[in-house]
Amino acid sequence: MTRPLVVVSDLRHAYADGQTALHGVSFQVGSGDRLAIVGANGAGKSTTLLHLAGCLLPQAGSVRVADLLLCRENLSQLRRSVGMLFQNPDDQLFMPRVFDDVAFGPVNLGLPADDVQQRVMHALAVVGATHLSHRQPHRLSGGEKRAVAIASVLALSPAVLLMDEPTSSLDPASRRQLIELLQTFEQTLIIATHDLDMVLDLCPRTLVLGEGRIIADGASAVILSDAALLAAARLEQPLRLQACPVCSGAARRPSPPPGR
Ligand SMILES: Nc1ncnc2c1ncn2[C@@H]1O[C@H](COP(=O)(O)OP(=O)(O)O)[C@@H](O)[C@H]1O
Ligand SMILES: [Mg+2]
Repeated sequence: MTRPLVVVSDLRHAYADGQTALHGVSFQVGSGDRLAIVGANGAGKSTTLLHLAGCLLPQAGSVRVADLLLCRENLSQLRRSVGMLFQNPDDQLFMPRVFDDVAFGPVNLGLPADDVQQRVMHALAVVGATHLSHRQPHRLSGGEKRAVAIASVLALSPAVLLMDEPTSSLDPASRRQLIELLQTFEQTLIIATHDLDMVLDLCPRTLVLGEGRIIADGASAVILSDAALLAAARLEQPLRLQACPVCSGAARRPSPPPGR
């Protein structure tokens, strides 16, 4: 691994109602790496991301991003290094126009108007949403909302991009478009997801969480082929690895000539 950009050590978290979400989670992510965090509902994926985004502070253990320890005093500095795409774009988009939503972060950084304009137009262009800049965010389709939410994060130029179930509720074409877009990103990506086929396409490394603990951490190709491990984590193998004749392309292969 390249020098770790994110270092999570023995992170523990219990919510106010006493529900323990993380029982001591440790992992590191190098600069430019792409890590998938998978696990059944309630495994602790979102709680992990919320710490990395500085929305939750460690109750025990520690989180470091770009050598900065996550604590109350460092919060505003740390939040400049990370951008979080929330599971529901409606939690992220709240301004009357798309342009203003994408500009919100840069404006809050106190950047000059020219700079803000340039960042917004660049971020919208990256996600292919320049034509939406004057639209009302709540009137967009699911895929359009997701693209604009990504632009609003990109406009802050974060070193680490956190994404919570980015393909959930997208139609197949929008999902494919999003995966292709993310493949072009050079930032460090940490993606919590149930979309294991996307993981195969996008993330060389996978961390499997189960009931707030790390069950496995390794190469996605190895982890996603391990049916027993996935079953223990209440997950299913990606369709592409399930020997399905349609997904694997076998159904389209011509039969060998007789006698061979
Ligand atoms: N705001 C909350 N209050 C109390 N418990 C919560 C809260 N958010 C999550 N939890 C609990 O913490 C555990 C981990 O949840 P979460 O991190 O959301 O898992 P995942 O994202 O993998 O589905 C679950 O048991 C869940 O019920
Ligand atoms: Mg979640």
